[in-house]
Amino acid sequence: MFVKQHDDSLDSLLRPANWDEYIGQEKIKKHLKIILDAAKKRKEPSDHLLFYGQAGLGKTTLAHMVAKEMNANLKVTSGPAMEKMADLASILSNLERGDIFFIDEAHRLNRMIEEVLYPAMESRKLHIIIGKGPTTKTFSVDLPPFTLVAATTRADLLSAPLRSRFGGIFQLDYYEQKDIENIIKRSAKLLKLAIESEAVSILAKASRATPRVANRLLKRCRDFCEVNNLKKIDGDAAGKTLEVLEIDDMGLEPHDKRFLRIVIEKFNGGPVGVNTLAAALNEDRRVLEDIYEPYLMKLGFLNRTSAGRVITPAAYEHLGLKNEAKLL
Ligand code: ADE
Repeated sequence: MFVKQHDDSLDSLLRPANWDEYIGQEKIKKHLKIILDAAKKRKEPSDHLLFYGQAGLGKTTLAHMVAKEMNANLKVTSGPAMEKMADLASILSNLERGDIFFIDEAHRLNRMIEEVLYPAMESRKLHIIIGKGPTTKTFSVDLPPFTLVAATTRADLLSAPLRSRFGGIFQLDYYEQKDIENIIKRSAKLLKLAIESEAVSILAKASRATPRVANRLLKRCRDFCEVNNLKKIDGDAAGKTLEVLEIDDMGLEPHDKRFLRIVIEKFNGGPVGVNTLAAALNEDRRVLEDIYEPYLMKLGFLNRTSAGRVITPAAYEHLGLKNEAKLL
């Protein structure tokens, strides 16, 4: 029942190949289909597209789908990978008509690179500046029609001029439990794994409403079954895998629990300012904001208020703690 494959190839194996295989995010699919179908009808590349949302929700998958749908090549880079103007200029000058140019982590593009992107996006011109001061020369090269697809976890960090140059802006949200269950079932089928419905629902609940996490948990269950000579993934195997990974039934990991406990124990449940909390946890503030907090807020365990972070009664209950702050 087990197929041997390296994790990298697994990821492309599990990636949906068309809209029918793509589960969830219905509104985005519908809107995106209209944009792409209209562009195909006009025989033109589509407008530039921006996808934003938490890590693992499928931004890269959507970029692949766009390329497939448009029957186009996908050229991939990321914000931090482009340091100098020349890095971007070399990619742009190698683009062919209709190419999809994908920039991941677009919030990490530096301002100089953004300045080169603007005319490329708007009027398909590559401006090259050579030299400094009075001897500066500027050339302009025409680029073929192409579509820029950018992905970011932090749309708020993109500069307003960059954001305004996208014709389609899509926010990917956390997935519904039933969508995650369907993704797990689909992945299990592709990996030729037998899985019981109880295991599907246990894994889905612990997947942080995120397909990438769901697929990772499924693969770890596969390892568990392989090592223990189990023929199928049942509820017991799923539960034991989560135990080994120190992931609880709602997907909380040790770092999430440490976060909640520190707010509860050191700050009486809050409100506590994010900088104070970051110092207490010995973490960067951005790690709290980008990685820890979104899922805790989605679960309703944490509120961001103007006075600071506050833990909710639901979090106390989940941790099996009395909400003493509430009784005061
Ligand atoms: N794998 C990762 N994301 C997926 C999705 N949205 N639908 C189907 N399979 C996926």
